[in-house]
Amino acid sequence: MKKIPILDLKAQIRPIRAEIDAAIKEVIDNTAFILGGKVSEFEDAVIKYTGAKYAVACSNGTDAISLALSALGIGASDGVVCPSFTFYATAGSIAALGAIPVFADIDPHTYTISVSSVEQALKQKNGPKIKAIMPVHLYGQCADMEPILKIARENQLKVIEDNAQAFGAEYLPAGQAGKGKKSGTIADCGSISFFPGKNLGAFGDAGMVLANDKAVADALCLLRNQGNKEKYHHLVIGHNNRMDTLQAAVLNVKLKYLDAWNNKRQQNAAYYNQGLKGLPIKTPLVAGYSTHIYHQYVLRLDRPSAGLIEHLINKGIDARVYYPLPLHLQPCFKYLGYKAGDFPESVKASHETLAIPVYPELSKEDMDYIIGAIKEYLM
Ligand SMILES: Cc1ncc(COP(=O)(O)O)c(C=O)c1O
Repeated sequence: MKKIPILDLKAQIRPIRAEIDAAIKEVIDNTAFILGGKVSEFEDAVIKYTGAKYAVACSNGTDAISLALSALGIGASDGVVCPSFTFYATAGSIAALGAIPVFADIDPHTYTISVSSVEQALKQKNGPKIKAIMPVHLYGQCADMEPILKIARENQLKVIEDNAQAFGAEYLPAGQAGKGKKSGTIADCGSISFFPGKNLGAFGDAGMVLANDKAVADALCLLRNQGNKEKYHHLVIGHNNRMDTLQAAVLNVKLKYLDAWNNKRQQNAAYYNQGLKGLPIKTPLVAGYSTHIYHQYVLRLDRPSAGLIEHLINKGIDARVYYPLPLHLQPCFKYLGYKAGDFPESVKASHETLAIPVYPELSKEDMDYIIGAIKEYLM
């Protein structure tokens, strides 16, 4: 039987293997294994690519969120509004600092945080004092940032973009044609994950925080490296959140290919959109204010998606749900006191959606096979 994985990293690495091997060899020859020259080279390359003023490489996307929150002065007992429908780390990083995740629902069309739900969260009387909003650029497209930034300005809140899934996407502010901003550079800070499965993935864990303010960037540099400015002189309580030089070397090579890979994902998405036309299934909506780099290509039915997923898996197609249980219903967040019935759009999305393979190396034949399998189930 044909087998189509959700991602094929071997196929991605094969054509660039010699370049990567050479970059890794250089690190081994130089032995500067942590925050070496290649890390600052990568930070500079990301600044050039995104237009951010500052880029601080770190250990992973989870730590990137914690670092961003700490650098912006958010800590124990502060409330941070974030969506319930996202990967655990969005809220886990908030809670790990002793801060309080304040959940909001999602927009049912884009799956990103709902602006009206953020407004509701801010109106709550007996919750924690809210200090920040953390929209997530889920699946590869930006959240609706302008109204969120407006709310933040009006309420003196910080905004951190959880940009783990959308590195390379562009936010297109209304009425400012040609003035797109790269995701992660729109708010006070943007966190990035270079987890191997991301569109730009390392060969292990790696992450980054983008910032537009020097004081915030300085704080990030201190916090990621034991609070050290000068070795053995610790100015603040920091952690070991540094990036390995080997990861930076790999990422430096791969960054050059990111736009081409993202373009290929967009072409694949367009091919699926066309092939699935007329079927009782919803293809992803791209909001006018953002490009979509299809970290995931997510379909939606008007009933539970479990049957279709099972059908696809039986055909050798690795279809999945991201994410099957919204965060407000996770056992680890029980202490926050949310209940079934809260955030209905998050709950509905967790039942009715499914992601199918969209990675750049997917062949037309693979996509035709997947489209055929979906048709077989729906017709
Ligand atoms: C939305 C979101 N936030 C945060 C993270 C955490 O990133 P990492 O796995 O690099 O710690 C991820 C990664 O899966 C993610 O998808």
